[in-house]
Amino acid sequence: MNKRSPITNNQQPITKIYSYGHQTIDASDIKAVTTALKSSWLTQGPTISKFENALNKKFGGKFASAVSSGTAGLHLIALGLGWKKDDVVITSPITFLASANCAVYVGATPDFADINERTYTLDPNKLEEKIRFYLTQNKKVKAVVAVDYAGNPCDWNALKTLKDKYDFQLVNDYCHALGAEYERDIKYPAKYADAVNLSFHPVKHITTGEGGAVLTNNELLNKKIKTLRTHGMTKDDSELEKNDGPWYYEMHEPGFNYRITDFQCALGISQLKKLDRFLKKRRAIAKYYDKVFGRDKRFIIPSVSTNAKHAYHLYPLQIRFDELNISKKIFFDKLKQKGISCQVHYVPVHLQPFYRKNYGFKSGDFPIAEKFYERELSIPMYPSLTENDLEYISSTIIETLNRAK
Ligand SMILES: Cc1ncc(COP(=O)(O)O)c(C=O)c1O
Repeated sequence: MNKRSPITNNQQPITKIYSYGHQTIDASDIKAVTTALKSSWLTQGPTISKFENALNKKFGGKFASAVSSGTAGLHLIALGLGWKKDDVVITSPITFLASANCAVYVGATPDFADINERTYTLDPNKLEEKIRFYLTQNKKVKAVVAVDYAGNPCDWNALKTLKDKYDFQLVNDYCHALGAEYERDIKYPAKYADAVNLSFHPVKHITTGEGGAVLTNNELLNKKIKTLRTHGMTKDDSELEKNDGPWYYEMHEPGFNYRITDFQCALGISQLKKLDRFLKKRRAIAKYYDKVFGRDKRFIIPSVSTNAKHAYHLYPLQIRFDELNISKKIFFDKLKQKGISCQVHYVPVHLQPFYRKNYGFKSGDFPIAEKFYERELSIPMYPSLTENDLEYISSTIIETLNRAK
């Protein structure tokens, strides 16, 4: 079904579009959602905590809160950890907007530290430089949002050492890394971070359509996140100022409707059962790409952090466009014409107009991230890709590069 002959010329009709990421849904997922839809609970029912328990069991962390998106999760973490106006929150420039926006939502000041050239994750040395810079201004960094970019774990031991030394809150934006391992442990995220953020957007490892979750070992933080996820309402007797009856609820702090539905969680539970299989496939795809692109000096293949096992949400291939004198834009468009719809992860966040205008960031502030942006292309990476697909994708990338100028 997925067979397609290798490209012979530019006019070959496109029979299949390859996006950089795609969900994998099968009959058991559909059955799980249908069952939930036929139940009494579409939302606020028992499937939510079932999903939360399954997430804890798989990824560690004592507590989980499933929410409506990864972005909602980050917002709730920011509120739950008590970030306030003028608190400084540092993240990587190579991440999705939400990793930095969560600081902006609560009036905190977002800042960045450059990435490590090899792992593409926050460089602990650059982070320490930034923290020390703030100390010279008599300011303490409140929190660090470290991103396990593409599925490659950060240097969590170094980050934890810095956390202990400089006393900041550590968040793992783990949206890319479900199933990654650090020091042979899949349950690493909540061991190092105060809060861990997950996303279940369709391009991620497992999906609920839209959705996210926060994992933590901190009972109070978990409680706060659960309250804020549903308008800040509480019925907990120990928190009430008075109690008019069983219907009675109070609000002590305004929250949001960041709830996820039961049928989404049913999908999440079903998807989670398949995560190991998905990961195996993602790692096999990465191995294929590593072999093909690793022997060609025009490419830089992603490397894996020390003591880690990559989860390959993305396959960030770097192409030395600058040295080859080839336009990334033209190359990108040519691949698209041939059915290969890549993406670039990411436009460095500090270069977004909002961040430039409001916080004064400029080109050259984080040179490794900026160089990475010039070269990076996320090529198709999702479990349903076949050997034929991979052959087509890789040979088309190489042939297009051979012909481009
Ligand atoms: C690193 C990172 N953080 C946060 C998010 C936000 O997740 P969501 O799309 O579920 O809101 C994403 C989603 O792309 C992400 O990649």
